[in-house]
Order: sequence, then C-alpha cells, then structure tokens
Amino acid sequence: MTIKPLQIGLLGIGTVGKGTFDVLLRNAPEIQRRAGRLITVAMVADLDIARAKTTVGDSAVVVNDARAVIANPAIDVVVELIGGYGLAKTLVLEAIAAGKHVVTANKALLALHGSEIFAAAQARGVMVAFEAAVAGGIPIIKALREGLTANRIQWVAGIINGTTNFILSEMRDKGLDFDVALKQAQALGYAEADPTFDIEGVDAAHKATLMSAMAFGIPVQFDKAYVEGITQLGAADIKYAEQLGYRIKLLGITKRVPSGIELRVHPTLVPAKRLIANVEGAMNAVMVHGDAVGTTLYYGKGAGSEPTASAVIADLVDIARLSQASPAQRVPPLAFQPDAMSDLAVLPMSEVTTSYYLRLRVADQAGVLARVTGILADAGISIDAVLQREADEVGGEGATSTDVIILTHDTQEGTMNNAMALMQALPTVLAAIVRIRKEELS
Ligand code: NDP
Ligand code: HSE
Repeated sequence: MTIKPLQIGLLGIGTVGKGTFDVLLRNAPEIQRRAGRLITVAMVADLDIARAKTTVGDSAVVVNDARAVIANPAIDVVVELIGGYGLAKTLVLEAIAAGKHVVTANKALLALHGSEIFAAAQARGVMVAFEAAVAGGIPIIKALREGLTANRIQWVAGIINGTTNFILSEMRDKGLDFDVALKQAQALGYAEADPTFDIEGVDAAHKATLMSAMAFGIPVQFDKAYVEGITQLGAADIKYAEQLGYRIKLLGITKRVPSGIELRVHPTLVPAKRLIANVEGAMNAVMVHGDAVGTTLYYGKGAGSEPTASAVIADLVDIARLSQASPAQRVPPLAFQPDAMSDLAVLPMSEVTTSYYLRLRVADQAGVLARVTGILADAGISIDAVLQREADEVGGEGATSTDVIILTHDTQEGTMNNAMALMQALPTVLAAIVRIRKEELS
C-alpha cells in the first residue's frame, strides 16, 4: 500500500523557507526512503508572491494570505517561517486549532509563548516541532530530548548565536570594527530581522530558555533569563583575556544547582584550550553535561538557509513517521511528560555563582592594589590571578594610570556586586570597572 504524501504548507519563503523548499526538492528520494512517504510542499504563503513564485515555480500554490494555507484541508503540516511573536503566534495557534501539525524555527515565539502553544497542541493532539529553533542545523533538540534521555542533566553551555560569534571572531582575528562585522553577518543571512536581538544576547537567551526547559523539565521562562550582549565588550578585554589564556565567547548557560536553575546569557571567558573556545565564525557549539554520559559537545552551522532547513526537514520526517501514532507514543515537546514538569525556580542573577574577570583602570600609585584586594578579601572573594600592566604600555609615555586585571575564584554575583560597589567608590579607581564572567567548563 502506498502512503499518501505528507502535504506541507510553508508560511514565509525567505532565507529558511527557500532553503527548506530547495532541500526537500533536491533530496526528495533520499528523504522519502527515510520518512516512508513523500514530503511535498503543496502551498506557500508569502507577502512577496512574485519572489515566491520564482522559487517554487508551478510545483506549489502560492498565496499571500497565510490563513488560506491553514484553511486548506489537504495541508497536514504548517511550517511557520515568518518570525516574530505577533502574527506568527496567532497563525501557529490557528493552525493547531485547525488540527495541523506545526514546525517552526521561531525561538522567539516559543521562548515567550511556548507553554501556551504546547498546551494547545497537546489538547488538540498535534505535534509542534522546533529543531531549527536552537543552534540551526545542529540536532541539539534531538540530543537533549532523546539521545541524553537517560541522564540527569547538570548543565548546558553553548555558543548559540552565529551573528555574535562571527562578530567576535572577526574583531579578534581581523581587527574588524563591530559595525563592519555586523553588516557582513546580516548580508550572509545569519542575523535576525532585528539584529539587536543578536548583539544584545536576546536571541541566545531565547534558545537558552528552550534548552533549559528541555534539560530540566521546567516551563519555558524567558522572562527569568539574565541577558547581556556583546555591545559593551572592548577590544582591550579581548586582548587581556588572550594574554591570560582565555577567549571571550557569548555563551548561553543553564545549570542545575542545589537552590534552583541558573539561566543566563553573557560574554564569558572560556579557557583557550577548550574546544568550544575555538569555535569561530558563525559556527555554533553546545556542551551538555549529564551525570551518566559526562560532557558531550555538538558543533555545526547554527544559521543560514540550508543548515536551518536541514533541521526543519528533520522535524518534517519525524512528523511523517509519527503522525499516525497516538499522542502518548510521541516524544513530548519539552522532553518531559507534560504532567511531570518540575517547578524548580530560575534563580535571580544575584544568586548565581561563577568566577570573574575584572578590569580596573586605576591611578598608578602605591597602595592601590592593596586596597582593591583588601575589599575582595573582606568580601571572602578569593583571587586566582592578577595582571598589572605597565602604565606606559596602557596609556603611553608618562601615563599616570594603568589597568589591573583580576581573575577570581567562584563567588556569588550578589557578593561580587557589593565588592564592586566598594572598589568603584575608591578615588584611585578612575573608570567604570569591567566585569566579565568566567566559566572553566571542565
Ligand atoms: P526572512 O525574513 O528571510 O523570511 C521571512 C519570510 O516571511 C519573508 O519572505 C517575508 O516576506 C515572509 N512574511 C512576512 N510576513 C508574512 C506574512 N504575514 N505572511 C506570509 N509571509 C510573510 O526570515 P528567515 O527565513 O531568516 O527566518 C524565519 C524564521 O526562522 C525566524 O523565526 C528566524 O528567527 C528563524 N531562524 C532563522 C535562521 C536563519 O539563519 N536565518 C536560523 C534559525 C532560525 P517579506 O520578505 O516580503 O517580508
Ligand atoms: N540570528 C541567529 C544567529 C540565527 O545569528 O544565530 C539563528 O538562530
């Protein structure tokens, strides 16, 4: 018996939509042999009908009204590739209500409204799949949800935004200015429609939020994530970090600690000898530490047309295989059964424990370092290393100020905040103290 093709409706045929269409067509026989049935794009909705028609030719019906796709009873799966969380949310909920399975690459939508969307899908007995939403082409959702299912996961840390990793790599390797590197990332199709989501860490926080929910079986809680991007990062700190044996990466981190869950995105010093420290350009990498497996590392393209399409199509194949299965036999969207979610609290940043890189611009005078280290000692913050630059090297011949760089051992962020306030108040500390968090990832 021949099984009828799985009929797809694409909402949006931009960067990822075009990649999905092209790869589905190019690899159709291979994909069919895996899925057990043909997967066909039957309908496409895009605002730019002429451009969409150029891409799909006569192979699919092209419309400019996404609701026409949802209303078509022949469509089995709606693939939302429009982006944003306004109209996209409405369309996804309407598709679910119409009994369609949904595939989306939209991490912003799921990080903010995932709980509502997954609950609606469960009630309607349809699947919502989102492999492309985290780390593009890397099958990290599959790994967290299925491959590592035996483990009590302890932490996840990843370079999960290609745009910022590209910018940091270009700044470090080629000495490019931030703005030039950002423009290149946009031209290459890596950046979000609103690139502030990339550079301010919001996109990485969307992805970290989803991984946190899947790693620990907690609801998606983007509003609890600590988010800091790369816009305040100075070239001097990239250089000093190198001298101390570290690279600076924008990491999304989520950890299980005795008091709850840490969920944070910020520039991070990572030992240069770690594999993840050497992930360059728009590439992504995610480390997951489970109690049974130890540390695992997943690496690949986290953005771009066909790498992201690869993940979208993996979801389509899952749906092709599982659409006839009863909902109870399917893999739950957040890895844990919906009635077995935990209410472990996401900790405020002040309760997070990590180590630090501090850079202080200080007057080049006797006793300055002693006063700074005295404040740290009084706060119970242990120093790991200190680097003091020659004043001439920092400010040129005759300079009267210099940089002191301090690496600390682990301490609570709240304790560090208090110590920084005291150090900042010293008259010999001449500029805002730079603080970058440090993770050994061992
Ligand atoms: P694009 O902007 O390239 O594509 C979006 C498409 O949707 C455009 O063709 C746009 O048309 C169309 N569109 C906008 N509004 C509507 C509407 N109301 N009805 C129908 N079509 C509409 O975005 P991407 O392909 O880059 O991203 C899509 C999603 O994938 C986003 O959620 C993004 O975060 C996610 N993603 C993207 C990755 C990437 O590498 N680009 C990687 C991983 C995830 P028009 O251009 O005319 O406005
Ligand atoms: N803007 C994102 C990035 C796209 O740069 O990684 C992939 O989600």
